[in-house]
Amino acid sequence: MEKLVINGGNRLEGRVRVSSAKNAVLPIIAATLLASTPSKLLEIPNLEDVGTISQVIEALGVKITRNGGDEIIFDASMLTATEAPNELVRKMRASFLVMGPLLARKGEAKISLPGGCAIGARPIDLHLKAFEALGAEIESTEEYVCAKAPNGLKGTEIYLDFPSVGATENVMMAASMAEGKTIIENAAEEPEIVDLATFLNAMGANIRGAGTNVIRIEGVPSLHGAIHTVIPDRIEAGTYLIATAMAGGDVFVENALPEHLKPVVAKLKEAGVTVEEEIDGIRVVSSGKELKAVDIKTLPYPGFPTDMQAQFMAFTTIAEGTSTVTETVFENRFMHVAELRKMGAHIDIDNRQAIVAGVPSLHGADVNATDLRAGAALVCAALAAEGTTKIGRLHHIDRGYDDFVGKLKRLGADIVRIDE
Ligand code: UD1
Repeated sequence: MEKLVINGGNRLEGRVRVSSAKNAVLPIIAATLLASTPSKLLEIPNLEDVGTISQVIEALGVKITRNGGDEIIFDASMLTATEAPNELVRKMRASFLVMGPLLARKGEAKISLPGGCAIGARPIDLHLKAFEALGAEIESTEEYVCAKAPNGLKGTEIYLDFPSVGATENVMMAASMAEGKTIIENAAEEPEIVDLATFLNAMGANIRGAGTNVIRIEGVPSLHGAIHTVIPDRIEAGTYLIATAMAGGDVFVENALPEHLKPVVAKLKEAGVTVEEEIDGIRVVSSGKELKAVDIKTLPYPGFPTDMQAQFMAFTTIAEGTSTVTETVFENRFMHVAELRKMGAHIDIDNRQAIVAGVPSLHGADVNATDLRAGAALVCAALAAEGTTKIGRLHHIDRGYDDFVGKLKRLGADIVRIDE
């Protein structure tokens, strides 16, 4: 089994460049299914999840051409199938994002129930209710969901009971080619939604209001391919901010967009870390000591991102005083707590709130990544801990961090990947 071995205590120094956002790339690759001519995506990050969604759409008949570098061409002119392969969908929940485009383009889609990180129930009821409102007939069993709209989708008003990121994206893609106007109320406002809308509009769609909680879509009969560079990954950027804040150091996180990271930056500043926002990135300076306890509560954007909760909890374990970490977006997103405790963290859990009593330092231990961001949290903790930490179940981390080991090594971390 592959493991990361990290000897903690090295300061992090230098520049690290953030890759394109995983959570924007995935829906955008799904959106290429809508086009009758090829799309070219630039600066695609090297991630397992990108490989998985690419395999899903390849199985549907999309021709994928890699130019050797990080440019990929997706040609969906000849869609041959409407059923996404089980084994791929089970591997990654975001595979469900092909449902909206397939329904719009082919009038039907069959998909097994999605997998992904085990962080709570993560149902898909909001997606399905919205597809039904757009005129699709849904048949769902315990194993799969089948949606059919033989006469095409019809624009309508959709109110999302929760501003689900995936449901907003799926509806935006489906409604782009529906007949007439669709209004999504209580839509998710994440930057990745805006990036998807930018791509869809470049493909010929007519979407207004992405980035606010009301999105208006005027359906068009067909979409064409487009060229697009995906936005920087705010969660990857935030992870480097936390890693430096914990380990101590002076790092410029190049390509990080300050306006996408407001709550994370605000909380780090509140905790006594120096964070300077610049046009082309964010600089973080920290002694790794005398960090102050802070409280965080995850919320949909623009609130504190749930995808930064685990990393920030790792940070609070060595902050002086008692911090609280409240998770409101997912039901079961505290699996990293047991692993952080193995490293000496003092954390109690009360329902959806973790109460963290800061300790002077963490120590190395044998731990496992239980999901993607939990894995990132353990890496941050290990960089600051005394002694050696071994982190297993790296497939979770590989899903979402481009060249994690290389980037950290270049900042001075003592980190290697071994095959045990
Ligand atoms: C996306 C992100 C994920 C992030 C999450 C919240 C991608 C590929 N993944 O996931 O990294 O953690 O947003 O920011 O972009 N829900 C329902 N019914 C539904 C859909 C969702 O109840 O039909 C619930 C979920 O169980 C969860 C909450 O809504 O508790 C948030 O889910 P959602 O915003 O849909 O997250 P994802 O799109 O799956």
